Order: sequence, then structure tokens, then C-alpha cells
Amino acid sequence: MTTVVVVGSGIAGLTAALHASENGCRVTVVTKGALPDTNTRWAQGGIAAATSASDTVASHAADTFTAGAGLNDPAAVDVLVGEGPQRIAELVARGVAFDRAADGDFARGLEAAHALPRVLHAGGDATGAAIQTALGDAVRAAGIEVREHALLRDLSLTEGRVTGIELEDGERLDADAVILATGGAGQLYAHTTNPLGATADGIAAAIRAGAAVADLEFVQFHPTALAVGAPFLVSEAVRGEGAVLIDDTGRRFAFDSHPDGELAPRDVVARANARAMAAQGGRPVRLDATALGPERLAQRFPTIDAAVRERGLDWGREPIPVTPAAHYLMGGVVTDLDGRTTVPGLYAVGETARTGVHGANRLASNSLLEGAVFGARAGDAVARDREWPLAPAAPAVLTAPVGDAPAFSRARLQQLMWDDAGLVRDAAGLDRAAGILAGWRADSAPRGIEDDNLLLVAAHVVDAARSRTASVGAHFRADTGTATSAPLAAVAASAPPAREALAC
Ligand code: SIN
Repeated sequence: MTTVVVVGSGIAGLTAALHASENGCRVTVVTKGALPDTNTRWAQGGIAAATSASDTVASHAADTFTAGAGLNDPAAVDVLVGEGPQRIAELVARGVAFDRAADGDFARGLEAAHALPRVLHAGGDATGAAIQTALGDAVRAAGIEVREHALLRDLSLTEGRVTGIELEDGERLDADAVILATGGAGQLYAHTTNPLGATADGIAAAIRAGAAVADLEFVQFHPTALAVGAPFLVSEAVRGEGAVLIDDTGRRFAFDSHPDGELAPRDVVARANARAMAAQGGRPVRLDATALGPERLAQRFPTIDAAVRERGLDWGREPIPVTPAAHYLMGGVVTDLDGRTTVPGLYAVGETARTGVHGANRLASNSLLEGAVFGARAGDAVARDREWPLAPAAPAVLTAPVGDAPAFSRARLQQLMWDDAGLVRDAAGLDRAAGILAGWRADSAPRGIEDDNLLLVAAHVVDAARSRTASVGAHFRADTGTATSAPLAAVAASAPPAREALAC
């Protein structure tokens, strides 16, 4: 019997675990928090799939390519949109109660860059929580072993093949295959919609094991995080329902950047917000949802409604302050369409993986779908794989001259990345960041595992961003001479207050 360790317990990891188990593998799910402590749990907008009579997978694919600036892998997009409806049916069968319209069909929301409403949701804006609960229950019911509060230290390798994992406390779990599903790297940034656990653990472990990574320059910044209190995502679905973005003068500015205004691709709207903030001295722009009215907002978006009210705001009556925040990593560990990485025995799924499906920028609500589709494929593949089809990659080499750096702290790292490898980048900032990161990495002072992971992945993000000198999708270079680069150059300086100033 094939033994499989799945690291991570969001939609991608639990789907992979269920499929591997249903295919006869003995599976252990390892997660550093409690089982439901995942990015998935916080997903609001929903899960995109062509499930209505008026929709087609070709339309969903076209929108995915447009959002991704055409850099998407066509085969991966075909798989995502083609297998999406089947995975939705599977989620329903596993107990996810997607919201329904009066006629009993799915209720479908509109989000940016989608040609039509195709985003299924549950509990209004609690889609991720509904999926997390259903999959967690299914994993428990299937008798899959779950190891909670167990932090991955590293992958175990024997003659170039992954043979298990090592935990923080030194315990080894042997396995025929390991599936990494640890999510992304939102905690690289001073402002993020991601929970504290998003520290790139799987990506870092894969890099240390010699796996190829790619597209790490493509970090998606969500346009609308609440700018009061801790950053909190205000779903794009709110704009899909009609909310608009205004500046200090009350002017709608999103149409200055794109004919689709507030529903343009996410990177475009995030930069439009940043530009408007820069023009008004760094003050957040405002999201005006008042036209929806307090009752509709509370009914359709109960989670956001509670978060807004907790902060003393009444979004049914007044516009609320919002700001861009790091949200999603398009790049990651290079995989084929079944999750196989370039290291034998190692798979990666969900945000940890780079299938190429998202290109340079992910389409809204394609991330839960990615987890369901590619998680299922990896869980199926792991049970049947006997040979390893991919050639091992040469370990990536990062070089940067060591620069003067203050003592390392997580907050300093996050501020450095926000300032120099954030929404807007240029060669001077990226070179500076590379030097500081090299200095921190050369320093042998002990750090925690998560900080080590963030530092390693930060160096790769900066390296990738230095290599890609032209702006595309979520990677915007202010030094490539585009028409919008001048006002955007002021964005970093006008960002919301840092958690801790970077003293260098
Ligand atoms: C949102 O609800 O705006 C986020 C959904 C996503 O990241 O696709």
C-alpha cells in the first residue's frame, strides 16, 4: 500500500488526501495549526466554474487567460475549467451547501474580469469556511490520520527521492510520496489578507530539496482590504454586486485605468487604488457600498458585515476605507498537471504549486477551484505513479552582493518586501532588497523555521522580479517607462503605516 503524507489542510490538501485515500493509499495529513486553520477557511468570494446553461468552459478559459495576461499554460487552463464542474459536484456530494436562487439553481455572483456571473458561494461570503468544514468532516469520516500542530521542518531525501518529512521536534514520518499543500506566502508582506500561517513553508522546503520553482515574481495584491484595524479582505464580490471605489473628493477613479472600472482585472484595480492613494497623500481610498443598503449587505456578506461593524463602521450608510494588500502567489513549485514536481516522490498542489494555470495574474475565485481540481488530480496520480516522468532540476542558485542590513526581524522583512518588491517595483529597490536579504541570509543568528522559510522565498521572489524587467500582469516595473509609472512611483511611500519602520 502506498503511504502518503499531505502537508497542509486547505482545499487542495484535503482534496488530495481524500482522493489518495479513496484510491487505496494510507494517508496522513500534517498541519501546523488545527485542521481548519487554513487560507481556505477565509476565502469569501467563492469558487468559479462554468455551471450555468448560459456559460461555457471556453468563456471561463478566455477570462482566465485575459486576467493572466496570456502567460497561462493552455493545458493547465483546459484542465481547470474543464474539470471544474465535476469538482463542484464532488464538493456538493461532500456536503458543501452552496447558496441557491429561488428556483433552486446555484446562486452565482459576478467578480472582476468574469464575462458573466459564475462564482458559486456559500453562507453569503463564507464559502471557504463551508468548504473547509465539509472537507474536514469528510477526512475524519474516511479515517485519515490527522497530525495537528505539527510544523514541517524539512523533506527527507534518499538518493534524490523524497522519502518522508521531518517535523520541528525531529520526528520523522516516512512515506512513499509527499504532497505539499501549505498555501502561499502572504506573510512576506507588511499588509496582507492572509492569515499568520501563510509563511511559504512548503515552497521553502521544496527549494531546499532542489525542486524547480517559477513565476515567483507574480504576487497578487487584492485591491480592497479594510484599512482600519488588522487588514481584512473585502471581497471583490462586493464590487460585483455594485459597490464602487471613490477618492477623497468622491470621484470614481477606476475608469481612468480600464474600461471595466472596478471590475477590471485585480492587478489593474489594485494599482488604480494605489495611484489614487498616492495622489491623496497616502490616505486610503473608499469603497462605497451604500447603494446596496444595510440589509442586503448583512444578508449577502455577513462575514464582512461583522468585520466592518467590529471596526465601528457602518458600510450601509457610509463608504469604508480600503487599501491594497498582498493576497495570492501565482508562482510556486513547478508541477505537471498531476502535481508532480521535479523531485521524485514530491507533489505540490494549490497555492504552493505553479502549474502555470494563472499566468501573470489569477482570475478571481479560480483559487478554490485550482485547489479542488489539481488536488484531486494529485491524489489520483500518487496512487498510480510507479515511474517518475520529470527530469530532476538543477537547484536554483541565487546570487546577490551582501548589503548592509539591520538585524533581522519578521516585521523588517515584511516592510522591505512591501516597499521594494510590492505593487510597484524598480531595479534600485529590488537590488537594495536583494542585498539586505543576502545579508540576513548570511547571518547565522538562529531564527524560527517560518522566518527561515520566508527569508528563503523572499530571496527567490526578489530574484525573479529582478530578472523580469518588463511589466506584465501582477508584476509592475515602474522603471520600464509605461504611462502610469510616474504617479505609481510614490505608492510605496504613501502606503499604510508600517508595523515597524525599516531602519536602513
Ligand atoms: C475575493 O473574494 O475577493 C477573493 C477571492 C479570490 O481571491 O479569488
